[in-house]
Amino acid sequence: MNLKYLTAVGLGLLLTTTLQAAETEREPFDDRYCTTCHGADGIGNEGVQAPRLAGMEDWYLRDQLVKFREGIRGTHPEDTEGLAMQPMAAKLSDESIEDIVDWVGSWDYVPAEATIEGEVDAGRQLYSSCASCHGRNGEGNEALGAPQLAGQNDWYLVTQLKNFKAGYRGSHPDDVRGRQMQPMAQMLQNEQAIDNVVAYINTLSVD
Ligand code: HEC
Ligand code: HEC
Repeated sequence: MNLKYLTAVGLGLLLTTTLQAAETEREPFDDRYCTTCHGADGIGNEGVQAPRLAGMEDWYLRDQLVKFREGIRGTHPEDTEGLAMQPMAAKLSDESIEDIVDWVGSWDYVPAEATIEGEVDAGRQLYSSCASCHGRNGEGNEALGAPQLAGQNDWYLVTQLKNFKAGYRGSHPDDVRGRQMQPMAQMLQNEQAIDNVVAYINTLSVD
């Protein structure tokens, strides 16, 4: 258990208590609480491991909020970061989710800074098996449910690849799309391979 984990869980507990207290006279959603973790304008916050939301595709944002709400994502006992996020979506109505999608859609897309070091050439080779779903430029593919990867926080991509590989994400029986991604992460042999493919993703751009 590390400090980041404690910070994310601590903030989560604090917010869960606040949300419960506010429940009686609740607004459809208090839209400001997302930025507590995801950063001002949704640019991501490594300290609590909450990724960039600004620039996220509307369909993917909606899908993931529904998955968290239904407990299809963020309920595996080893999914530390998902467990911090899951209660934040647990009480959202369909209407609140649509409001959030509109709200987040109004933020500017700002690609995240690179923090991960890896071998870009090795990563490029690995990425050739990712491109069929995530697109050559990491732009994503709605029909396949594969999100944009270009511009996302690289530390978050690393965590997700590890979580898929270990089965912490994508194992829920109702997580149809997560289960499509899992074997792809299992193809990445070790942490170095994960860093390499993420270092290559850092070179992609959707601008
Ligand atoms: C307590 C801190 C916290 C709050 C508050 C919070 N989140 Fe999160 N959120 C996280 C963390 C940590 C993750 C990373 C989960 C993971 O690694 O699987 C996350 C992940 C997500 C993801 C998944 C991103 C992806 O690329 O799959 C979405 C979408 C999201 N949050 C939206 C929201 C929205 C919308 C709100 C406000 C309603 C919100 N979050 C409030 C901590 C938080
Ligand atoms: C068969 C199609 C497919 C292939 C090939 C594929 N993915 Fe995915 N990937 C998906 C889908 C679908 C999701 C969304 C899962 C969900 O809804 O939770 C996803 C999610 C992800 C995520 C999480 C993004 C986020 O915002 O949370 C990462 C990171 C990722 N893929 C990286 C990769 C990498 C790297 C490769 C190549 C090694 C790869 N994917 C190959 C379909 C694919």
